[in-house]
Amino acid sequence: MNISQKINKISKSKRILFTTPSHDRTSFIIPNCRYSVGKVFYNNDLSEINGLDNLAEPEDIILQSMKKSADLIGVDNVFYLINGSSSGIIASMLSVLRCNDKVLIARNCHKSVINGLILSGAEPIWFLPDYNENWGIYDKADASVIEKFLSKNSDIKAVIITSPTYEGINSDIKKIAKICHQYNTILIVDEAHGALKSFAPNYFGDNAVKLGADISVQSLHKTCGAPNPCALLLCNNNIQPFAIQNCLNLINTTSPSFPLISAIEDNINYLFSKDGQIKIYNLVKNINNLKNKFSQNDKISFCDFNDLTKMLVKINGLTGIELSDILFEQFNIEDELANYSSSLLLTGIGTTKYKLKYLEKALNIILAKEYFSSQTKSSKIFLSKHIMTPREAFFAKKVIISTENSIGRICAEIVSSYPPGIPSLIPGEEINENNIIFLKDTISVVC
Ligand SMILES: Cc1ncc(COP(=O)(O)O)c(C=O)c1O
Repeated sequence: MNISQKINKISKSKRILFTTPSHDRTSFIIPNCRYSVGKVFYNNDLSEINGLDNLAEPEDIILQSMKKSADLIGVDNVFYLINGSSSGIIASMLSVLRCNDKVLIARNCHKSVINGLILSGAEPIWFLPDYNENWGIYDKADASVIEKFLSKNSDIKAVIITSPTYEGINSDIKKIAKICHQYNTILIVDEAHGALKSFAPNYFGDNAVKLGADISVQSLHKTCGAPNPCALLLCNNNIQPFAIQNCLNLINTTSPSFPLISAIEDNINYLFSKDGQIKIYNLVKNINNLKNKFSQNDKISFCDFNDLTKMLVKINGLTGIELSDILFEQFNIEDELANYSSSLLLTGIGTTKYKLKYLEKALNIILAKEYFSSQTKSSKIFLSKHIMTPREAFFAKKVIISTENSIGRICAEIVSSYPPGIPSLIPGEEINENNIIFLKDTISVVC
C-alpha cells in the first residue's frame, strides 16, 4: 500500500480524531481556504496518527516508500524533503561538517549553502567557475581547479558544487567525484535544477549520486511537477543515513505535511510509469521542435550546451532584460530571470505544447522588428576578501549603515537577488567598491 492509499483508507474509516491538526480534516475549513487550498488537501492533512508513519523516524510506509524510490532511482538512500532542496543542502552540510572544518565551495552557490555554513560553523574556501560573458552565466565547475585546491589543502572535508546550474550547465561529476575520493573528500552536489535526471537519464544524463557523488539534492517542484517545495535528498552508503536523518530533524518541522509527502511518492511513481515517461518524451520533443523552428534565423539563438529544459535565449540588438520586458509587457509571458545577455525561460513537466506554441508566436512577432540596444554589463559577482567565517559574522554585533558608507566594512548578512539566489556578498566578506557597483547594477535591473 502506498502513502496516499493509506491516507485514503484512514479517511474512509471515519476515525474520530482528537489530534492535531485543528481543522479536523473537513470539519472546519476557513471559507476562503476551500478555494485557495481545497477540500482534498484538508482531508489528507493528517498528523502522525496510528497507521501513518513519522517522517522524522520513518519505519513503516514512509520508510518503505523511500526504499522503493531509492531502488527505482538506483541509489542507496532517498530522503523525502518537505522543505525544499534548501533543507537538504543544509542537512547534508550539517551531517558531514563540524565547526572550523574546511569546505571547498563553488561561489556561484545558492544562498542555502551559506545558511549551512552559518549553522555548521565550517570554514569556506571559495572558487569561482569561469563566467561566460556571451550568455551571462557561470560555466561548469572545473575538475582540474578542484584538484588543485584539494592537493594544496589536505584538510578539506567536503566539496560543494551546483550542477546543473540555474541555467542548466552540468559539471563533469564523474571526474570530480573521482578526484574528491582520491583526496578522501566528500562531494555534495546541489542538483536542485536537475531532478529530471533521476527519471530520464537518456535525455538528461545520470543523477550526481549515480555518477559517484556522495550526496545530491534535487527539487521535484522545479522541473518534475510536484508542488512547492517537494524535494529529494539522494545519497550513497558512504554517508550514514542516520546522520542525514538527525540533521534533517534539526531543521524540519515536527508537523510535516502528509499531502506533500504523498505528492513526493506519487510524483516519483508517475515519472517512472509509462505515462510519465511519455510525458517527459513529449516535453523534450516539444522543446526541440520550438528550438528547431528558429535554427535558421540568425537573429535569435538558444544556448545549446545546457540542460534543454532551461531555454536560455538571446535576440540580436536586445539585452536579455529588454527581451524579458517585451515578453512580459506585450505578451504576458514571464521568464525566470534575465541578464544583460540572455533571458531564461524555464520549462518542466507541466509545460504544454500550446504554451510553447504561444512562446514561438511571441518570439516571431518580436523578431519581425529591428533592435539596436548597445547596453552590456556583466552579471559576474566579485570575490571579496574573507575576514571572518560566515558564522562568526552572522552572530557578531551588527550596525546598519548606508550602502555608500559600507566600503571596507564586513558584511553581516547574505546579500543576493532572487532568483537566482547566488549571494553577491556573504557574512564575513569585506565589502569593496566593486561589490557596491555590482549591487547598484543589480538593483537597477530588478527595479
Ligand atoms: C541552485 C539552487 N539550489 C537550491 C535551491 C533551493 O531549492 P528549494 O527552493 O527547493 O529549496 C535553489 C532554488 O532556487 C537553486 O536555484
